[in-house]
Amino acid sequence: MTNRARKPYIAGNWKMNLDRLKSLDLVKTIKGRLGDGNDREVAIFVPAIYLADVTAVAQGSPLGCGGQNIWHESNGAFTGELAPRMLREVGADRVLIGHSERRHVFQEPDEWMGRKLRAALDADLLPIYCVGETLDERKGHKTERVLKRQLEAGFEKVAAVDAHRITVAYEPVWAIGTGETATSEQVDQAHRSIRKWLVQRLGDEAANLVRILYGGSVKPDNARELMAIESVDGLLVGGASLQAETFLPILEYDKR
Ligand code: 13P
Repeated sequence: MTNRARKPYIAGNWKMNLDRLKSLDLVKTIKGRLGDGNDREVAIFVPAIYLADVTAVAQGSPLGCGGQNIWHESNGAFTGELAPRMLREVGADRVLIGHSERRHVFQEPDEWMGRKLRAALDADLLPIYCVGETLDERKGHKTERVLKRQLEAGFEKVAAVDAHRITVAYEPVWAIGTGETATSEQVDQAHRSIRKWLVQRLGDEAANLVRILYGGSVKPDNARELMAIESVDGLLVGGASLQAETFLPILEYDKR
C-alpha cells in the first residue's frame, strides 16, 4: 500500500442509525484504535442531533466528524434544515453532499448540489460529494453520462484552489445496502472517468489532490481488495460502520 498518490481516507456513514449511547460508545472505541492519523484519514458522519456529543469525545484525536446533509443558506425560514455554520458550531469539520439517499429518497435535484458544495467550503467544512448511477442507468450504459452530469452540477462553483478540500465518493446506487459490491473493473472504470473529468475541469495539479472514495456494501472481507485498486483512494462505509467489529477491520484493511 505504498506509493499512493493520496492519503487513504476511510469514512463511516451512520445514516439514521444508532442511539446516543451507542454513538458515544462507538466513537470512543474508534478513537482508541486510531494512531496519529498520519497514514490514513478516518471520519464518521453522524446524525446531526448527536454531533455535539460525538465531537466532544473525538476532540484531541485525528478522527473527523461530519454531518450527513446541509442546506446552503446560513439563516432563514427553512424548517427542518441545518446551516453549514451550525454543524461547524457543534464541532463538525466535514459534511456529506448529495448522498444517493438524499437524491433518490428525498428527491434532491442536481441544481442544489453546486450551492451546497460551495456553502460547505465557505463554512470551512470538508465536503464529500457523492455521485453514482442507478441500476437502470447502468443497464442503459449511461453510467459515465450520469457521473458527468452530477459532477458538473456539484463543481459548478468550485475553483482549482478548492480542490484539496474536496473528496468525491463514487457510490453506485444499486450497490448501497444491497450486499452487492461493484466489481473491481466497474469501480476502476468509474473512478477513472471521474478522475478524467476532474483533470479536464480543474487541471492536472488540482485534480490530483481530490480523493475518490468507493462506497456500496463495503465489508471487512472486501475492503482490502477495493483498496488495492489504484484509482480507489478510500472507502465510504454504511452498514459495516455501525459496529466496531466490522468498522475497525475496514480501517485496518492493510494490517491483517
Ligand atoms: P452500505 O455500506 O450500507 O452499502 O452503504 C453505503 C453508503 O451509502 C455509504 O454512504
